[in-house]
Amino acid sequence: MEENCESLKVQVANLQKQLQKQDKMASLGLLSAGIAHEVQNPLNFVINFSKMSVKLLEDLQDVLEDCKGSLSEDDAADIEDISADLQENLLKIQEHGERAISIIRGILLLSRGKAGEMLPTDVGQLVHEYVWLSYHAMRANDKSFNLTIKEEIQEDMPKVMVIPQDLSRAVLNVMNNACYTVKERASQEGADYQPTIEAKVLLEPKGGSEAELHVIITDNGMGMTPEVKEKVFEVFFTTKPAGQGTGLGMSITNDIITKNHGGRVLVETEPKVGTSFTFIIPVKIVK
Ligand SMILES: Nc1ncnc2c1ncn2[C@@H]1O[C@H](COP(=O)(O)OP(=O)(O)OP(=O)(O)O)[C@@H](O)[C@H]1O
Ligand SMILES: [Mg+2]
Repeated sequence: MEENCESLKVQVANLQKQLQKQDKMASLGLLSAGIAHEVQNPLNFVINFSKMSVKLLEDLQDVLEDCKGSLSEDDAADIEDISADLQENLLKIQEHGERAISIIRGILLLSRGKAGEMLPTDVGQLVHEYVWLSYHAMRANDKSFNLTIKEEIQEDMPKVMVIPQDLSRAVLNVMNNACYTVKERASQEGADYQPTIEAKVLLEPKGGSEAELHVIITDNGMGMTPEVKEKVFEVFFTTKPAGQGTGLGMSITNDIITKNHGGRVLVETEPKVGTSFTFIIPVKIVK
């Protein structure tokens, strides 16, 4: 009897803890959605004014071209250099503004739990595109860094029903982390280390038009300690230095796969060996 009472007490305490956590998460969600919404407008202004300035700069370059004859060669060369730098800066403002917008969209998606539309999708092609997009984005910031990308995408895979815009975001989030971690390990280990990321896509038939989609992304980066692994899907959990991570990537990814697609995400990781994320998603094959 007493034992029962004790275990009931423990259960009640656990439930209370869970409720408190959910309550905190709900108000955190509302708060961040509010902030995200407010920040979106001024950010749009920043991006649009920067786009307009790029156009104005092009006009200015046309005008300069016309009156080049009346300028000394040095002055003309200076003006050209300065306007090229200006253009580059404006494009950077745009690029980083758009990055900020995409973070904000992530926060809004997360807090509203808004789902996109299921569409017939060539998942092999989608994964291929986003793996390389992430690679090129990383290379844009550091041209000297190289890594090996291996792809193993099942041939002749039929289209399946997924939410392409969400799935691509999930692949991108995992890839961005993979690129980050192999880069970090490379900076610690030097020439003997070959940074490698592997992307695998396969479809397991389950009878009729049912199937199970597997997307596996493996890196040979830093790996995670058991403590980090346990928290990897928590909102705002990050081990990256301030300004480099928001701690949203994997929690959005987990929501996309579990809530929006009814699937699951598996994590296998070992410090100094690497990490593998597997999405397992039940899908319908499009005939
Ligand atoms: N492939 C990986 N290898 C090692 N650690 C990882 C990997 N993926 C995620 N992590 C760990 O999980 C944490 C949370 O990842 P998550 O993507 O959610 O946030 P983040 O990358 O820190 O920031 P961002 O919101 O910009 O993605 C990371 O800070 C890192 O410690
Ligand atoms: Mg991330």
